[in-house]
Amino acid sequence: MDGNGRWAKERSLPRIEGHRRGVESVRAVVRTAGEAGVGFLTLYAFSQENWSRPRLEVQALMRLLGQFLKSEIRELQENNVQLHAIGNLDDLPGGVRRVLDGARRETSGNTGLRLILALSYGSRQEIVRAVRLMAAEAREGRLDPEKVDEACVAAHLYTKDYPDPDLLIRTSDEMRISNFLLWQISYAELVVTPVLWPDFGREHFLEALREYGRRHRRFGGI
Ligand code: FPP
Repeated sequence: MDGNGRWAKERSLPRIEGHRRGVESVRAVVRTAGEAGVGFLTLYAFSQENWSRPRLEVQALMRLLGQFLKSEIRELQENNVQLHAIGNLDDLPGGVRRVLDGARRETSGNTGLRLILALSYGSRQEIVRAVRLMAAEAREGRLDPEKVDEACVAAHLYTKDYPDPDLLIRTSDEMRISNFLLWQISYAELVVTPVLWPDFGREHFLEALREYGRRHRRFGGI
């Protein structure tokens, strides 16, 4: 969800205003994804590397996240959205963690869109964690190293219960992956748009889905 800072800078506003407007885009995209029948939507809301941002920006982002979780719970319920989170959630401030856990619990019976927030998430860190888990299981005799295959690695990632993404949308013309779901996006289709995240809305999301529909996926075949 890139471009919040640039959106604010273009308007001589503080960066946090860009993030605040970015929350509006989150609302629009979640609603549209549900209506369009998308099964899983993962939002890269806060990366492991984002902790190195100025303290006030980190605090403001955590506050926005907590407010979003509190204010959206009703809308998530009404739209049958089940909330999930991936990342090193223990890093989150206690208050945010509590509302997040509450929202996950309250929406656990919903059967529509799975909305997955990537929070304090880094893909390399996720892979290191998976390797450690597998090594510990091998040491305890619960995992035969010879049996480690792709399915075994995938089963030790945060995303073990979700399918690999079909489509990755990156806003504000950034041509990078930035440590996001490196394992899982091996065959994802990429759509990069110049639109800054706070300007990204329903129509842009639907256009990205249409663009995805025009792709021919070959998965290495012909
Ligand atoms: C990247 O833009 C955006 C972020 C690091 C934060 C994204 C967070 C939100 C949209 C709000 C909170 C999230 C939820 C799910 C309620 P940037 O700051 O790097 O922008 P720039 O590249 O233009 O500087």
